[in-house]
Amino acid sequence: MGFVLCTGALSCWNMFVLLIPDPEVLNDEFSFKARCSRTEMAGECVNEGKEVLQSLTVTVGATVPTGFEHTAAEEVQEKIGAIARVSKDRGRIYFEITTDHLHKVHHLKSVDNLFVVVEQYDHYQFKETKEEALLDLQQLAPVLPWNSALEVWKINNSLKKKRSRRRGAAVPKPKPCDTSETENPQAEPDETLLKEKPGSACPEQEPSPEDSDIQETEAKPLKFRVTCNRAGDKHSFTSNDAARDFGGAVQEFFQWKADMTKFDVEVLLNIHNNEMVIGIALTEESLHRRNITHFGPTTLRSTLAYGMLRLCKPQISDVIVDPMCGSGAIPLEGVIEWSNSFFLSGDNNDMAISRTVNNINHIVKKKKDGGSTSPGLSIDTAQWDLCHLPLRTSSVDIITTDMPFGKRMGSRKKNWDLYPSCLREMARVCRPGMGRAVLLTQDKKCFTKALSRMGGLWRKSHTVWVNVGGLHAGVFVLRRTAAIFGTTPEDVREPHMGCESQEVNMEEKVQSARSE
Ligand SMILES: C[S@@+](CC[C@H](N)C(=O)[O-])C[C@H]1O[C@@H](n2cnc3c(N)ncnc32)[C@H](O)[C@@H]1O
Repeated sequence: MGFVLCTGALSCWNMFVLLIPDPEVLNDEFSFKARCSRTEMAGECVNEGKEVLQSLTVTVGATVPTGFEHTAAEEVQEKIGAIARVSKDRGRIYFEITTDHLHKVHHLKSVDNLFVVVEQYDHYQFKETKEEALLDLQQLAPVLPWNSALEVWKINNSLKKKRSRRRGAAVPKPKPCDTSETENPQAEPDETLLKEKPGSACPEQEPSPEDSDIQETEAKPLKFRVTCNRAGDKHSFTSNDAARDFGGAVQEFFQWKADMTKFDVEVLLNIHNNEMVIGIALTEESLHRRNITHFGPTTLRSTLAYGMLRLCKPQISDVIVDPMCGSGAIPLEGVIEWSNSFFLSGDNNDMAISRTVNNINHIVKKKKDGGSTSPGLSIDTAQWDLCHLPLRTSSVDIITTDMPFGKRMGSRKKNWDLYPSCLREMARVCRPGMGRAVLLTQDKKCFTKALSRMGGLWRKSHTVWVNVGGLHAGVFVLRRTAAIFGTTPEDVREPHMGCESQEVNMEEKVQSARSE
C-alpha cells in the first residue's frame, strides 16, 4: 500500500486486516480472519478456520422520489419491519437490515436505487482548499470498513442471480456508464442549482474484456467505478474531482481495475453539505423503469406511481381508475401490487392507449414465462374522453391520475377548462362519502382554483409535494363528499368549460383490451 493513515477510531488489528492486501479479500473472497475481525458482525465466529455463515447487520440506503420519503419509510416498516430514517438530503432513506433478510429489499416498490452503506459521516469537515480536501478523501479510502458492505454486495449478487434464474433470464449486465434518463422526460433529475450531476471517474481506465460479468470464484481483479453525487455550495472540489481522487485510492487499496462501463462494483460517494455517505450499489439500474417497456412522452416513474397509489390506500375489490393513463404507469404498478383490486385505464389519445396495452401485454407475458398460472391481470383499457367517461355514476372507489401539466402535455390555457370539467366528471363516477382521488399536477394554481369551485363534491385531505422531472408538483389527496351527484350547484357544467377540442365519439372509440 502506498500509505497508511492511522486514526484513533481503528484498532491495530483492524488496521492490519484492512491494510494488508490479502489477495482473497481483494478478489471478492473474504477470509474467515477478516470476517471475524469486524466489529459490525452479529454473533461470534467460533470455528477457527471454518467459514461460519452468520448474518451481518448493515445499513441500507435507498433513493426514493423526492417528497415520497415518508411513504417509502412506511413501506420499509411494512415489508421489512425496520424503522427507516429520512436523510437530510431529500430523496434518500436509510434502514438497518440483517443479511438473512436482504432479499426483502428487492420487494420494495417505492425505491429507485439501493446501496449498502460502508460509512456515514453526519458532520464531515471538508478542508478548505481543493488539494487538502481531495487528499483527505484519498486517505480515507484505505481506512474505511469495507468488509461488511462487500459481503452484502456479494450476497446480493447471488440473490440477483437466483432471481434471474427463476425468471429464466440472463444475469443482468452491469449498467452502462451513462445513467441519464432521457427516455423518461418526467423522470426525476438531480436537484439542480447546488447539486451537481453525478461525477464518475475511473483513473487509468482500461479496456474491459467482453466476458466481464461478475466473477465470483476466479481470482480476476474486480472492475469498479466510483460515482459521486454532490450537493452543497461550500465544497472546493467538483464531484468529478472527488470521484477521480477517491477512486484512485480505492483502486490502489483493492487493486481493482477501473472501468466506467462494465464494472462489477459501483462505489458511491454521496456528499450533501457536511454529510458524506460512502456506499456500494446493490441495484444496477433504477427500479423506476421496472414495468414499462413502451415509454411515452411523459411516462411517470413506477416509484412515483407506487407512492400515489399508496396514498389511495386501496382495499380488496376496489375499482380504481386512471382516466388519463398515458402509457399506463399508474394502473400497471397498481395491478401488480394490489392484484385484488380492479383497474381501469383510459386516455383520449390512441397512441397512449396502444402503449398501455403493449405494456400490459408485456407484463402478462413475463408472468407466463416465469411459470405463473394465474389468469391475466385485472385491468381493462379503453379510449375515452375524461370529461364524458363511459362509466356509471357512483361506481368507482378510487381515481388516481397524472394530469397534463400544460407544459409538455396540453397547455396551461386548456387546463382552465379541463381541470374543472375533470373534477366534476370524477365526482360523478366516484362513490359519495367513500370515494377518493389522488391527483398529480404541476399546474397548482389552476388546480387549486378548480378545486375551490368544487367544494360541495370534493374535500382536500392533504397535499404531498414532489419533484417530477425537476418540476415542483403537488399530489393532491381528495375525499369525495357525501353529496349525491346532481344535487349540488357544482354539478352544473358551465358552457365554456369542457374538453371540447379533445372530444371523441365514445361509441366508436371504446376499445377494450382485457389482458387475458
Ligand atoms: C401527463 S400525461 C399522463 C402520463 C401517464 N401517467 C404515463 O405514465 O404515461 C396526461 C395524459 O392525459 C391525456 N389526456 C389529456 N386530455 C384528456 C382527456 N380529455 N381525456 C382523456 N385523456 C386526456 C393525455 O393524452 C396524456 O396521455
